[in-house]
Amino acid sequence: MNSDHAWFNRSRYGMFVHWGAYSVGARGEWFRNRERIPQEEYVRRYAENFHAERYDPREWAALAKEAGMGYVVLTARHHDGFALWPTRCGEFHAGNIGPKRDLVGPFVEAMRSAGLKVGLYYSPADWSHPDYPGPYFRDWPGTTDWASAEARERFVAYYRAQLLELMSDYGRIDYLWYDGCIPDDLRRSEVNEALLRLQPHLLITERNGKPSHVHVSEQAIRPPRDPQACWEACMTLNNNWGWHAGDRHWKNAAEVVRMLCETASGGGNLLLNVGPKPDGTIPEESARILREAGAWLRRNRESITESERHPLSWNNWGRVTARGERIYLHIRNCTGPELCFAELGNKVLRVRWLETGEPVEFTQTAERLTLRALPVPLPDPLANVVVLEIEGRPVALTAQTTYWIPGEHA
Ligand code: GLC
Repeated sequence: MNSDHAWFNRSRYGMFVHWGAYSVGARGEWFRNRERIPQEEYVRRYAENFHAERYDPREWAALAKEAGMGYVVLTARHHDGFALWPTRCGEFHAGNIGPKRDLVGPFVEAMRSAGLKVGLYYSPADWSHPDYPGPYFRDWPGTTDWASAEARERFVAYYRAQLLELMSDYGRIDYLWYDGCIPDDLRRSEVNEALLRLQPHLLITERNGKPSHVHVSEQAIRPPRDPQACWEACMTLNNNWGWHAGDRHWKNAAEVVRMLCETASGGGNLLLNVGPKPDGTIPEESARILREAGAWLRRNRESITESERHPLSWNNWGRVTARGERIYLHIRNCTGPELCFAELGNKVLRVRWLETGEPVEFTQTAERLTLRALPVPLPDPLANVVVLEIEGRPVALTAQTTYWIPGEHA
């Protein structure tokens, strides 16, 4: 991290946009691979019917702003290989098939003029490319799957050239969101260094080797072991990234706020996904949920922005974030007028509601802080934020020794 990256921790919240030829299929972004659809059929049935006729990235930007987000990341090219810009590498792109125009340029411009940071997602994997070992891997080809060393080199030259286009043709790009995790080292450091020469301030996710800056936790909120690491949890709003007409499993605004508090309490960001329809409009349910959570964020911004990773443990009434000499209690479940918080080793100087500034009655013994005379029920169904002003930076009563992280010990 350097000072050019400060925006990332300041915003704490971004929008992920999965949109491409696959949106026409209305069943996620992996169906070409999962259903073993040949390229010719994919072009004819999906890419050619991708028209983006109501695409207005200024509306996306307005929604991201209303949601309280600081940046937006667009899938410039997903694993299906369909480039959303008129790439000079090959024919499978939006300038040539489907919309017949550049979709990346207007996106970059709209985000920038709304004051949002600009992110582009790029997957080195490409199911459409003749040198890619095959479109039906679950998930990525291994190091020995390439037809020949020459095929592999041609593929590296191709993806490198596409990335150079993206990093040269659209002015300042703030964030490159690599996906893929191909186990093969496709000249990653050489490629990333070339991109950083073009855009020295660029933040890069870890999924295509080093140099990179951002650790990614996918569909889980799991801070990395290194407490200094810059990280982001990317999450879907239903259960799919790309538009899926049958997936009605929407998370609600309270869950979005919970995810936001949880990532912020680990000092990380939440990158929350929307999957626009093929015409370019964001599903109404997604927009509604984002707006509702955004209204909460407008009232409680201070508890999320520039939050720092803290040593406090868990509880079952809500989430805790911290910044400097302040602790923010996000109370979600409260059973009565009193709430006990017994994790803090610091002296508490003042306690107030974040939204109104009204003081909260409290008593503190050596180990236990008790908030008193809380309204029953609490007014905000999403989360009610109380600010503790403390002496010094947060100290936990219980040191964290080992803790169990699902999956990490499997
Ligand atoms: C996975 C999927 C991909 C999606 C990404 C987002 O890697 O392959 O479809 O874009 O997650 O994190």
